[in-house]
Amino acid sequence: MSLRHRRLALSLSATMVVCGLGTATPAIAQAAAPASTDLIVRGTQATMQVAALTDSILRVRIAPGGTMPEDASWAVSHATRIARARTMPSANGFATAALKVSVDPQTLALTVTDKAGKVILADAAAPLSLDGPGFTLRKAMPQAEHYYGLGDKTGGVDRRGGSFVDWNTDAFGFSSSTDPIYKSIPFFIGVGGAGGSYGVFLDNTRRAWFDFGHRDDATLAFGSNGGGIDYYIIAGPSTAEVVRRYTDLTGKAPLAPKWALGYQQSRYSYMSADEVRGIADRLRSDRVPTDVIWLDIDYQDRNRPFTVNTKTFPSLKGLASDMEAKGIKLITIVDLHVANAPNQGYAPFDSGKAGDHFLHNPDGSMYTAPVWPGPSVFPDFTQAQTRKWWGGLFKDFLDDGIAGFWNDMNEPAIFDTPTKTMPLDTVHRIDTDDFAPRSASHAEIHNVYGMENTRATYEGLKTLRPDDRAFVMTRASYAGGQKYAVTWTGDNSSSWDHLKLSIQQIVNLGLSGFSYSAADVGGFTGGPSADLLTKWFEYAAFTPVFRDHAATGTPRAEPWVDGPAHLAIRRKFVEERYRLMPYLYGLAELNARTGDPITRPVFYDYPAATAFSCDQSMAFTLGDKLLIGGNPKPDSPMAYPVCLPAGGWYDYWTGMPVAGVKGKDPAFTTLEVKPTLADLPVFVRAGTILPRQPVTQSTAETPNGPLELHVYPGEDCAGDIYLDDGKTMAFQRGAYLRQHVTCTVKGGAVSVDFAGRDGSFAPWWREIAVIVHARDRAGRVTLGGKAVKGDWDATARTTTVVVPDQPGRVRLTFAR
Ligand code: NOJ
Repeated sequence: MSLRHRRLALSLSATMVVCGLGTATPAIAQAAAPASTDLIVRGTQATMQVAALTDSILRVRIAPGGTMPEDASWAVSHATRIARARTMPSANGFATAALKVSVDPQTLALTVTDKAGKVILADAAAPLSLDGPGFTLRKAMPQAEHYYGLGDKTGGVDRRGGSFVDWNTDAFGFSSSTDPIYKSIPFFIGVGGAGGSYGVFLDNTRRAWFDFGHRDDATLAFGSNGGGIDYYIIAGPSTAEVVRRYTDLTGKAPLAPKWALGYQQSRYSYMSADEVRGIADRLRSDRVPTDVIWLDIDYQDRNRPFTVNTKTFPSLKGLASDMEAKGIKLITIVDLHVANAPNQGYAPFDSGKAGDHFLHNPDGSMYTAPVWPGPSVFPDFTQAQTRKWWGGLFKDFLDDGIAGFWNDMNEPAIFDTPTKTMPLDTVHRIDTDDFAPRSASHAEIHNVYGMENTRATYEGLKTLRPDDRAFVMTRASYAGGQKYAVTWTGDNSSSWDHLKLSIQQIVNLGLSGFSYSAADVGGFTGGPSADLLTKWFEYAAFTPVFRDHAATGTPRAEPWVDGPAHLAIRRKFVEERYRLMPYLYGLAELNARTGDPITRPVFYDYPAATAFSCDQSMAFTLGDKLLIGGNPKPDSPMAYPVCLPAGGWYDYWTGMPVAGVKGKDPAFTTLEVKPTLADLPVFVRAGTILPRQPVTQSTAETPNGPLELHVYPGEDCAGDIYLDDGKTMAFQRGAYLRQHVTCTVKGGAVSVDFAGRDGSFAPWWREIAVIVHARDRAGRVTLGGKAVKGDWDATARTTTVVVPDQPGRVRLTFAR
């Protein structure tokens, strides 16, 4: 066995230190117990340490040499890592309130089961091999299990059978099988195994890889070419619990400003302030609701970050304020490559050089390489001081009224080199968090570089405007990057294949902590056909971030470009999104609190969906209440089946109950859908109270009319109203409005119960319209026992009552 290809079977006589009692921790990151509560198993060639951070989250570290590597992380805070749950010793391991953990002292094989002994995750026969500084971990892969997550990797929603590499890469023109692409999120979820769903997060920033049975369909393997062996096992048993706990571990995405949920218009590039004004005017005159216009690199002076081309954009401040008056925000791109422009009065270079903020070559000189501005230098975002300096550079843009920032090219992308990035021996000088101050090669930092770029931007914005919600969009990131930025899937193509891929990427990003994500609507490269752009608008209207963007030199892709018929369909879908804003914003707030993604795979809330017979590759839900029955071949005119989970559904567009065809499996019914260009099948779960509002042209505009609560009778009927000012942090100080509404159906009578309202925020509505669907007769309506006027629409089969705002507990009854 050569030293280089040393493969260790870690089976040699091990000693085991079993944990003692830890301190109970009601929530992660609150209390810490001594590490002596951890299970430590010493083999002759490796030591394994298993810690229970909470009852359901385990941290596993393996030290081949016997000494644990530096205990630091870019993704998991110190406070979170040192939290410990109460544990009880057991044979070869310990138990928490939820799990049993055992390690075979001979093989170091780790088994995690639930309390009933059902296996959640168990090691395979050769659990660990080492190959120089690299390692491979192997887990048993049950046939019934499927795998999700890993961010926006290509290749379908289910990762089973695939293998993937984590190495942030500028993947211009990627196909639906290109790997790696822009992000590295080394977190996946196993779904369908005996012990329920679980997650694995490999906290390793180097070039890592995951094999979901590609080489051997009984083995799940993952590893890296170096760095510490440090991973977390997150038990469910539901997928939702796994995602929530993963975001407990790596952080929740902050609540975005409400305008970030509006329609966003972009292009590489709008070349002048006049052009931007023209785009805004057209969006308004065509009545396409819009909240944001994006400025790509051509607004800058010679593509230099933090500059403005004052010939074409004479007053950014004036432009931003004119846009503000129309209810439109401006977002500007600010890439991390600072032009290497000494003695030219270019402050980002001068101040960065003076502060020694740029990366070095191994010989100590400044690393310089070409990107958009020509020769460029690169901030060392692994230093707290550098991040602080970078964050301060945004001051002028904020003062000009720029609402958000776009950190692109942060893999980092480098031109004119086959690796597309910087040399692996480029020197970072880590000086942050609980890392020991030390130098690190780019090989170690590459996959977190983009995330630390967005951290610097986000924290800078928060320092400059603490009470505003910061908005940053990034292309590259790492696990936990959701704390700093939303993301998009990079340079996709104008093809039907990419429309499908975009849904799959957004769904997997949501399971990987990045609830806010987008794909360039219409495709970045190539130019969409009219039908493709229209269909893309339809889908994107139900995804978290809705941005139309296209590359330079491609045909225009604004909503109006294909004439009035296409514009009308696109407008209808954008309008629908604005009608749904109360629901969508409620989902954003839920995400910030719990980690539940906005856009989800159907099985997230309806676990039986993993076994549905319909192709689920483009089906998804928006929250748990709306199901988008996507067409697996979105360009095909052939009818296709949509599987609807048991429990009953309504057609979102007509409000009518839909009766799918029952098959042998009681878990779902099937509906044949005939695709048409103008329609997207959307369904509402029976038992929903869906808040909606009148259409506005921007989220800045106050809706004209009542808040609408659409009641779709069914079991567990409920809905939530959530509101705050949509832009500041005042909601954290009590300035929000939260109200739970339920409904019960008895013998054809429907009662709608408003719970008392929480929070001090005053709503924009004076009245609430309650619209009950599937009503076959008028029936008497009472509010708190007193008769009120109800309007029955025989065609729509709805009864509508408009009542004054109801901040308190009250019952509204629609008699049979
Ligand atoms: C690459 C990004 O992916 C793209 O969206 C952007 O338009 C160009 N860079 C120019 O900034």
